Amino acid sequence: MKNFLFIVLLTLLSIQLFSQESIREFRLEKQYLNIPVDMQQDRQKVYFILGQDTLTYSDIRIADGEPDYWVFKDVSAWKGKKLTLTFSEKVNGIEKIYQSDKFAGEDSLYRESKRPQLHFTTRRGWNNDPNGMVYHDGEYHLFYQHNPYEIRWGNMHWGHAVSTDLLHWNELDDALYPDDLGTMFSGSAVIDKDNSAGWGKNTLVAFYTAAGEKMTQNVAYSTDKGRTFTKYEGNPILGPDRDPKVFWYEPTQTWVMVLYEDNFFAIYNSRDLKNWEYRSKVKGFYECPELFELAVDGDENNKKWVMYGASGTYMVGTFDGETFTPERGKYFYSWGSQYAAQTFNNTPDGRRIQIGWGRIEQRGTSFNQMMLFPCELSLRTTSEGIRLFSEPVGEIENLHDKKHRWEHLTEQEVNEKLSTIETDLLHVKMDVEIRHGLRLAINFRGNTVIKYDGSFNQFNGVPFTCEEPGSFRFNIEILLDRTSVETWIDRGKLYISEGLKKDKSQDGLRIKGGVRVHFIEVSEMKSIWIKKQD
Ligand code: FRU
Repeated sequence: MKNFLFIVLLTLLSIQLFSQESIREFRLEKQYLNIPVDMQQDRQKVYFILGQDTLTYSDIRIADGEPDYWVFKDVSAWKGKKLTLTFSEKVNGIEKIYQSDKFAGEDSLYRESKRPQLHFTTRRGWNNDPNGMVYHDGEYHLFYQHNPYEIRWGNMHWGHAVSTDLLHWNELDDALYPDDLGTMFSGSAVIDKDNSAGWGKNTLVAFYTAAGEKMTQNVAYSTDKGRTFTKYEGNPILGPDRDPKVFWYEPTQTWVMVLYEDNFFAIYNSRDLKNWEYRSKVKGFYECPELFELAVDGDENNKKWVMYGASGTYMVGTFDGETFTPERGKYFYSWGSQYAAQTFNNTPDGRRIQIGWGRIEQRGTSFNQMMLFPCELSLRTTSEGIRLFSEPVGEIENLHDKKHRWEHLTEQEVNEKLSTIETDLLHVKMDVEIRHGLRLAINFRGNTVIKYDGSFNQFNGVPFTCEEPGSFRFNIEILLDRTSVETWIDRGKLYISEGLKKDKSQDGLRIKGGVRVHFIEVSEMKSIWIKKQD
């Protein structure tokens, strides 16, 4: 008997000492759980358990000592309930997690010195692809690949922001969390106007990939303007691979899904958004499919379809609801940081508006990566044939503050004028011609943001064909934010987006080369986050 008691005691003691778990219970009273992160720590799996239900899980590098930064989880939906956090390993930092009605750093949100002021970035954590882009009931919905707990990729959730004007964004709570089928990879959303799925007219229906042991396609729907989602009990609805893009095809009254599989995009049809039948495939693309129709040169009687993949390389062709038949391509229209760009379904005015992921490292902050500026896509006839063009949406003008416009300037004159501008948030349009030599450079704070080499016909190393052979005259549009520069050459024939390196010089915008500036318009920009105090 004595021996037995001794063994029981020893076992209990060793469970205490060598326990592989850390558990903490919270009676939820506030809006947020604030969680400290230390990038030197290993990622530890944590389960969020409400009562008996495991709601979700993630990997968190929880800080033991001084955190590198704080992240948060919005728990307002479960106020008054008991939430248990169970880490699969022993983590001392669990004791530092605290409840509050503010998330750590909320008071300086969007005012951080390194926060982009003209582009959407997430409050905390990491973002990659835009997802579920759809216009509904007065709001543009931008869902996106989000790691709420770290500034590196992982724990894929669908983050969520809404905008009424494509400029100002209101970030809401994450819309989709990791579940039994996996983490939430990319996808799209539609508005089910005629209730094909049976969840009610005008339900917002999202299609996403769950990345678990295998990749599967899944559906979730929302009847409250995307504020909460219900995952369909019949999930998964389709097998591998990933990134379903769904839209309505009016002529045959069918839903279309384009899915990335291996080295091709597969096309499926459905009547009810739940059962999908394979129709055809197009080879030559990788990840994040897009397929949409555009009028060539604005002519509604001459429409073509565009198919592109994550890199932005595209084909132009025809589509009958089941098969995309390429006629030309693959070409490219964008270069640099843009990846996995998606376009809005259901825009009120029929514009094809795109937002791309800007693969731009945001250094020294508690958020990482960014969304590029919304662009309107069009098809235009060029000397080389029909090509895809991308230009910033017209709404950009609503961010214009003080405006400068000058005409007929030499290089020296233009730089003298530019040196009078003090702000760094700029939207610039210019008509510039190289008069001497073969090169043109646009510099900003010592970074060469644009470099044209007339001998090799290249902008920033990318081949570029002028409409008029031998022309050394360009229309250049530039958007400068704190950490990025976007450039549209010749009204969007080529779109280049890049990260800005650290300031290497005091000089702001400068133009170099033997140039003549026919006109230049510089607009100082208002922040999308912070109202200017006059
Ligand atoms: C593209 C991508 C998608 C995938 C997602 C995961 O950047 O790799 O194919 O769904 O990111 O975050």
